Amino acid sequence: MKFTLDTTPVTDRETACLVIGVFEDAPLQGSAALIDQVCDGALQELVKSGDVHTDWKETTLLHGLNGVKAKRILVIGCGEREKLTSIRYDNVCASAGAFLRDHASTDAHICLHEMDVPGTTEYWRLRQAAVGLEKANYRYTATKKPKDDDRQPLSEASFNAAGDLQAALTEASGIAKGYLRSMELGNLPPNICNPDFLAGTAQQIADSYENVSLEVLDEERMTELEMWALLAVGRGSRQGSKLIVLNYRGADEATRPVVLVGKGITFDSGGLSLKPGPNMEQMKYDMGGAASVVGAFEACADMQLPINVICVVAAAENMPGGNAYRPGDVLTSMSGKTIEVLNTDAEGRLVLCDALTYSQRFKPAALIDVATLTGAAVIALGHHASIIMSKHDDLADELIRAGETAADRGWRLPIWDDYQVQLKSAFADMKNVGGMAAGSITAGCFLSRFTEDQRWAHIDCAGSTWVWGGDKGSTGRPAGLLTQFLIDQA
Ligand code: BES
Ligand code: MN
Ligand code: ZN
Repeated sequence: MKFTLDTTPVTDRETACLVIGVFEDAPLQGSAALIDQVCDGALQELVKSGDVHTDWKETTLLHGLNGVKAKRILVIGCGEREKLTSIRYDNVCASAGAFLRDHASTDAHICLHEMDVPGTTEYWRLRQAAVGLEKANYRYTATKKPKDDDRQPLSEASFNAAGDLQAALTEASGIAKGYLRSMELGNLPPNICNPDFLAGTAQQIADSYENVSLEVLDEERMTELEMWALLAVGRGSRQGSKLIVLNYRGADEATRPVVLVGKGITFDSGGLSLKPGPNMEQMKYDMGGAASVVGAFEACADMQLPINVICVVAAAENMPGGNAYRPGDVLTSMSGKTIEVLNTDAEGRLVLCDALTYSQRFKPAALIDVATLTGAAVIALGHHASIIMSKHDDLADELIRAGETAADRGWRLPIWDDYQVQLKSAFADMKNVGGMAAGSITAGCFLSRFTEDQRWAHIDCAGSTWVWGGDKGSTGRPAGLLTQFLIDQA
C-alpha cells in the first residue's frame, strides 16, 4: 500500500473516503470538528441522534456531506475518551482497516491519529494506523482467488500529518511487511509450506538485501553436527528437515547479534502420539514461531536497522511412519544431554533444543526462541498475549515493553527451577514432557537446560499467532513485538 502525508485541510481533500474518529463522551476533535463546521453542525447532529455510532470500534459510513469534498466519510467510534488506551486505539485502526478492505474505496485519507490517546505520541499513532490498515488489507489469495465481485482492497492511504512524520510511515511499512510475511506463511497449507518452502522463502529474502546471507543445513549436515533431537522429529516424514540460518549485518562485525530462533513444524500430526482428528488441520500453523521470526527479520532488513540479527528456523514435519521416532526412544541432543521421549507430540522442544545449542556459536547478545509450543499457553493467557519466559529480568522487561509499544502484547510467566523436577527421567537426563501441571512452564524449563549462561528468553505464541473460529487465520503475531524489540535495540 502506498502511504503519503497530506496536510490539505480535510474538508478540501478529494478522496474516496475520509476516516475520522469520534468519542462517545467528548466534543468532536480536530478534523471532525472542522467537518462539522463546514456542514453547519450536521455531523454533531448525526452523533446526537445516534445515526453515527460512537461505541468503541463501531463504524458508520456517511455520504455526500455538504461542504466536504470527500466522497464518503467513515466514522469510527472510539468509545469513552478516558478508556482509549493504546491497545484500544489499535483496535480502532484495525476496525477502520477492515471496513475499508470490504467496501468500495481504494484510497482513503486518515485522521485517526488525531485522537487523544494518553501516553502516546502522534508518531506512534500514525505508525500504528498505517500498520493497522496494511494488516487489515491483507487477503489470503495463494490458493483461493478472490471472486470477481469482491471489493478492491485499499491501494493508497494518505494521512493528515506534516512531513516531519514521514519516518513513522517508513517504519510502518517495515513492520507491516514483517506481519504480512508472517501471516502468509502461517496461512499457507502444509502441503505447500513445508521445510523446503520455508528455506525457499529465506532464499528470497536473502536475495532481496545485499547485507543478508543464508545458510541452509540439510539432514546430512545436521547428522554431522549430531542434532539427534531435531532429526528424530522429522524422521517419520518424507520431507527432509532443515535448519535455516539467515544472517543480517547492519552493524560492524564486533557487534554481537540478536539471535531469533523459530519453531518451524510445518505440520504437527503429533507423530505416533497422534493428535485427535478434530482441528488437526490447524496444526499447519505450528510454524507460527518461525513465521514471526522470519517476518521480524525481514522487517529489520527492510528498515536497515543498525544492528546484527540472525534468524534460525528449525523446520521439520512431525508425522507417524515406519521410520518415525517413538515414545520410549532416548535421544542424544547436540549438547550431549539425553532425552527420554514420552510423547512424540512434544516435538517442538526437541527441534528447538538443538537449534538453541547451535545458535550459541553466534555469541548472541540476546537469544530468543519463539514457538507455538504448548496448548497450555492458550489455556493460560488465551489469545490476547504471547507468553514470555526468561530468567533475565531486563530481557523480559524489554520484550514486554516492546509488546506494549507494538500493541502485540506478551506477558511473563515464571521459569523457576522449582518446576524442573517434573522433567526427571529414570532413563535419561530428562524426559520431554512434564505432566499436566504448568505445561507451558515445564516446556520452558526443558529449553532452559540448553541455554545455560545465555541471555535467553522463550516466547510461547500458541495462543496469539492464530485466530480461531469464523475469521480463522494467522495474526502474524508476535512479529510486531519482535520487530519492535529489534527497533529498540537499534
Ligand atoms: N504444537 C503443539 C502445541 C499447540 C497446541 C499449539 C494447540 C497450538 C495449539 C505442540 O507440539 C504440542 O502438541 N504440545 C503438547 C505437549 C504435550 C504433549 C506435553 C500439548 O500442548 O498438548
Ligand atoms: Mn506437538
Ligand atoms: Zn507442535
